[in-house]
Amino acid sequence: MTASRASAQSVDRLAPWAFAAFVEANTHETAYRPPVVDGPVGATIVRNGRELVNFASISFLDLERHVPVRRHFAEGALAHGLSTSGSRMTQGICRPHQVLEETIARHTGKERAISFATGLLANIGFVNAMSSSAHFDVGIEVRNRDTVFVVDRDVHWSIWKGLEGLGYGRNVHAFRHNDVVDLARILGRVRTRKTVVIAESIYSADGTMGPIVEILDECDRHGAISMIDDANGFMVYGPENRPYAREAAAIRERADFVMVSLSKAIGLEGGAIAGPAEAIDAFELLSGTSMFTAAIQPPTAYAAERTIEVLAGNPKIVDDYLAHAARLRQQMHDINTPTTPTESYMLSVPIGNDAAALQMREWFVEDGYLVPVFSYPAVARNQALLRLFPHAGHTEEQMDGFLRTLLTYRRRLGV
Ligand SMILES: Cc1ncc(COP(=O)(O)O)c(C=O)c1O
Repeated sequence: MTASRASAQSVDRLAPWAFAAFVEANTHETAYRPPVVDGPVGATIVRNGRELVNFASISFLDLERHVPVRRHFAEGALAHGLSTSGSRMTQGICRPHQVLEETIARHTGKERAISFATGLLANIGFVNAMSSSAHFDVGIEVRNRDTVFVVDRDVHWSIWKGLEGLGYGRNVHAFRHNDVVDLARILGRVRTRKTVVIAESIYSADGTMGPIVEILDECDRHGAISMIDDANGFMVYGPENRPYAREAAAIRERADFVMVSLSKAIGLEGGAIAGPAEAIDAFELLSGTSMFTAAIQPPTAYAAERTIEVLAGNPKIVDDYLAHAARLRQQMHDINTPTTPTESYMLSVPIGNDAAALQMREWFVEDGYLVPVFSYPAVARNQALLRLFPHAGHTEEQMDGFLRTLLTYRRRLGV
């Protein structure tokens, strides 16, 4: 069969899924064909051949300026190869994974850590592992299908994906975003010895820090296990001179489990769950997303471990970045453009009207800026936000240009 006949046949068979109608109706360009990026992504990005000042990069520290990440990556590739070439269970883990997992355990203050190809897989694996029932052999079994999860309504998609199929209202409950009273109300109603509370440190839509200390107090009061998704806070918050030192200390000292992502401050790819040794050992088998898929590539694991140590040993890198982000926040307030009330490095600018926010995004691209917009269904209808990541490599001129441009659009649209 020729390729075109095969493809015509596929189109016929796919008709019941109505993908063509979905793509046709969708006006969001990245939903069906993402723009193509050339060269490394940083303070600027070359998309479809055009250079834009980039406020979308989640690896925001401009690390290559301080750490020879690409050289570490090359060293790791030469010493350890490009792939693990097999599962952790059949072959074992590579040396860089072992060192990375020990490093993450140390920096999160937990006994042990297990790494995954992405943070998303770490979250799905955590939920799987805490709720699996499996019988392997006499004496080798777990019966945890009765676990009850109580999660902040705004936790990441990956947690919700893991919870799918567990029975909303029975084994899964959601509390209102950052609302500890609502969490306490639900925990008061749940009657089981196996309750897991999941919340995030910095939430990626609104940039807020969860009320971590109060959440952990409620977990203690009700005997619940806690898991904090620290994807956006790992290696950023902790030291006393930075915002959220109290929350970061609580995550380190009191949370049972913590999830970290290597795609944010570390600027690479991968994720991990850190926690008590006995549970992490069991997660090798029970998470599923560790055993049944590829691991982080060895050079990435190697470069990630080097980067974590450099960030820990040179606090000025993150201190300077946070000062830079705080300056942009202040400048926005000075031009009467309030951001959501949080001290985190993420800047969310409420716009409201979905159409106005999407129009702004297009104008920004025309004028040379890449500024992400969260609109429905990512957030409630007409609660659209611009969600920016200041980048450590942005120049004064780029920031000033952005602020002037934003102000012009707000006046033009009356928002
Ligand atoms: C809170 C949170 N959890 C998990 C993830 C997934 O992390 P990763 O990019 O490592 O898959 C993200 C990234 O978007 C996130 O913001």
